[in-house]
Amino acid sequence: MQLEAEKAVAARAAAALVEDGMKVGLGTGSTVSHLLTALAERGLSVRCVSTSPRTEDIARSLGLDVTTLDELGRLDIAIDGADQVDDAGWLIKGGGAAHTREKIVAAAADRFVVMVDSTKPVPRFTWPVPLELLEFGLTSTMRLLGDVTLRDVPRSPDGGVIADWHGDLDDPEAVAAFLSATPGVVDHGLFPASMTSDVIIARGTDVEHRRLR
Ligand code: A5P
Repeated sequence: MQLEAEKAVAARAAAALVEDGMKVGLGTGSTVSHLLTALAERGLSVRCVSTSPRTEDIARSLGLDVTTLDELGRLDIAIDGADQVDDAGWLIKGGGAAHTREKIVAAAADRFVVMVDSTKPVPRFTWPVPLELLEFGLTSTMRLLGDVTLRDVPRSPDGGVIADWHGDLDDPEAVAAFLSATPGVVDHGLFPASMTSDVIIARGTDVEHRRLR
C-alpha cells in the first residue's frame, strides 16, 4: 500500500512536467497507471503514443488521445517507470516485458523522465536483464547468451519471446554492448544513463528530482 502511494506521488510529479500541446510518450507498468490518471486529471490537450496495449487501453478509457509514434514523430517528453535505477542513472526495465517499445519511445523523446518508488534506486543492479528474442534460432541465441531463462509470459505485441539474462552486472555498459551485439536479441532492458533526462523518486510523500542532463 505504501509503495502504491509512493508510485502515485512520483507519477503526479512527472505528470506536472507535461505542458499543453505536447507530444507525450507513455510507458508501461503500475507507476504508469498512476501517471495516466494524473495526466488525464490535468485536462491538457496532448497527443500520446503508448508502449503497450495495456497502457493504450487505460489511456483511451481516461480520454487521452493516443496515436502512433510514426504519426507523432519526435516527442517532447516520454515518461515511464523502471525496475531498478543505479547510482549512475542506468536503468533496468522490462519487468512488464514492454522494454523494446519503451526504449524506442524513450529514444524518440527530447526528454525521458523516469518515475520510481523508493525501492527502485540501488547502488548495484540485482535484477536479471529482461530480453526480447526472435523465435528463429532461439536455442542458438540462448546458447550464445549463456545464463538466460525463458519467461512464462505471452509473446510481446511484436511477436518476440520474453526472457531474462542472469549474468554478472558489475559493468552495465559492457553487458548492454554484449547483449546488443548478440544476433537474435531484439532488444534488452538495460537503458543507458545518457538516455534519461530526469529521475523522479518518491520516498513517502517526499519527491527527489534528479536531473541527468
Ligand atoms: C515494463 O516493461 C517495465 O519496463 C516497467 O516500466 C517497469 O517494470 C516498472 O513497472 P512498475 O511501475 O509496475 O514497477
